[in-house]
Amino acid sequence: MKLFDVYPLYPIELTKALGSKVWDKNGKEYIDLYGGHAVISIGHSHPYYVQKLTEQLKNIGFYSNSVIIPGQEELAEKLGKLSGYESYQLFLSNSGAESNENALKLASFHTGRKKVVAFSQAFHGRTAGAVAVTDNPSIVAPVNDTSHVTFLPFNQTKDLSAIDESTCAVIVEGIQGVGGIQVASEPFLKALRKRCNEVGALLILDSVQCGYGRSGKFFSHQFAGIDPDLITTAKGMGNGFPIGGVLISPKIKASYGLLGTTFGGNHLACAAANAVLDIIKEEKLVENAAQKGDYLLNELKGFKGIKELRGKGLMIGIEFEKPVAEIRDALLFKHQIFCGYAGKHTLRLLPALNLDKETIDRFLESLQQVLQ
Ligand SMILES: Cc1ncc(COP(=O)(O)O)c(C=O)c1O
Repeated sequence: MKLFDVYPLYPIELTKALGSKVWDKNGKEYIDLYGGHAVISIGHSHPYYVQKLTEQLKNIGFYSNSVIIPGQEELAEKLGKLSGYESYQLFLSNSGAESNENALKLASFHTGRKKVVAFSQAFHGRTAGAVAVTDNPSIVAPVNDTSHVTFLPFNQTKDLSAIDESTCAVIVEGIQGVGGIQVASEPFLKALRKRCNEVGALLILDSVQCGYGRSGKFFSHQFAGIDPDLITTAKGMGNGFPIGGVLISPKIKASYGLLGTTFGGNHLACAAANAVLDIIKEEKLVENAAQKGDYLLNELKGFKGIKELRGKGLMIGIEFEKPVAEIRDALLFKHQIFCGYAGKHTLRLLPALNLDKETIDRFLESLQQVLQ
């Protein structure tokens, strides 16, 4: 059998990883400023994380949601405290798309409405409900109903009248990732909160990419001081172990059977997610993301060939005058540095949150050489 060929691959096979470094099968070392697509939050193979997962697997790796799984309670408590959403409820799933899917369903169940408002350049995942609110027709199949979705321009506060009494949810990223690291402005998020309150719609903050400390706050919308009704997370939550979650306002009531999943919140997934939160707290990684992000953005300001710098914390977009593909490839193949990209001109940095100054300086030096 052949693999279904949907991914353009780098000719690199990684066999080892530690912190912000990865090694290929020939022992060649690379710096990882991509974090496997914003997934590696606490660094690769963190010893505490490895220990906690190993211990859990030796005891029990999986059982379904038909029994008490103590790691779920522990996770809800830790996440509530660290994120500042102690009064919210937690539903666990396996991915970002699933988290958004469940948030949209909850908004629709709660309001009894169908219309959803999303924004230009948004990416929310590839499952039916999530892809319908994603602004990319090329990944929407005819089977995915989009008739209930209205797209508005991102970051524009002027006319939000399309959010009306038939709207169940407004879904927005605090920082658009796939859209090229576009930060939702404080006035924009405040206007969305206000308009949702006026018409009784629920506000969903997709924090799958900008969440979990990456922006320098636990969730990036916290810069705007708003409280969403639903917050979705995944990616950095398990540092590579698949887990997603929806933080749910206390005003939304649960009932048996309303949501469900086989794998979501299993023993091993919770061990991973709890270890991640322990390390984020212990090593002050939210603060580190803020400091190192500031340093990196400030240093980049002097570089020639950069059109625009965007982002917060360690979620950084560098838009270049020239196409990004050649810059990205030179960084990877000549300087052994993995970076992400968005669109044709933007380099996307999504490193581990414990990134150190030495690694940043190595990147800055390499980028300077590439741009010469
Ligand atoms: C903002 C956002 N939401 C949702 C998703 C989908 O997450 P997953 O690929 O885990 O389904 C992504 C993935 O890149 C994302 O960036």
